[in-house]
Amino acid sequence: MNVIADSAVDAPLSARLKQQTHAIHDSLDSRISGLAPFLDRQHYVRFLRVQLRFQTATALLYEDATLQARFQGLLERSRLDLIEQDCRDLGVSEADIAADRAAGEAAVIGEGVAAVGWLYTNEGSNLGAAFLFKRAQQELQLSAEFGARHLAGHPDGRGLHWKRFKAQLDELDLNAAEIDQAVAGAVAAFALVRAAVEQLMGDVAET
Ligand code: HEM
Repeated sequence: MNVIADSAVDAPLSARLKQQTHAIHDSLDSRISGLAPFLDRQHYVRFLRVQLRFQTATALLYEDATLQARFQGLLERSRLDLIEQDCRDLGVSEADIAADRAAGEAAVIGEGVAAVGWLYTNEGSNLGAAFLFKRAQQELQLSAEFGARHLAGHPDGRGLHWKRFKAQLDELDLNAAEIDQAVAGAVAAFALVRAAVEQLMGDVAET
């Protein structure tokens, strides 16, 4: 019996998603931190390329009319343009940008409301980015105008921006099967990022 899942039966969707991805998040967080993305700009660029893959994978969701109807202001939340600019700021080659775009575009989002889970993972990653943004500023002299645009908070405040998204998530009226699909989507999004981390940041000796 899965005690955690049973106790969460009536929990809001946002809480369920958080609970079901908590362990994967922690593992990803430690893995990325262990790969020293802020050691120097060369290390940071590898992290940027991971983010480019992820933002490309999710970009079409932000343009989707059905999702836009459920999540007001969705299109403005997309960070694809910002991450591309960050990559160009730091001299990522056009060939590498194209390769990461292609890798992101190959992502399979999954059925039904899986897309909602992908959005959760991406929007949540912006909340956690507060700490990363600070480090990019302090250790690499980057900013919301150069190199760390995609990590910057929303002008209304990072917390409020996230709270609005969470409220929209929790207003969705999903049945049990749909909740499972959303969780699977969130997990798949984390898996894409983890795979990109291993591919682009894991073998530091190679670059
Ligand atoms: C070194 C890398 C990372 C660190 C240090 C980190 C740290 C954090 C922190 C501190 C929070 C909580 C923020 C708050 O409650 O105010 C958070 C939330 C979150 N992060 Fe990360 N994170 C990292 C990477 C990622 C990545 C790569 C993703 C996605 C692929 C991600 C997805 C999320 C999500 C979905 C949440 C929201 C959790 C919730 O409240 O439901 N994080 N992160």
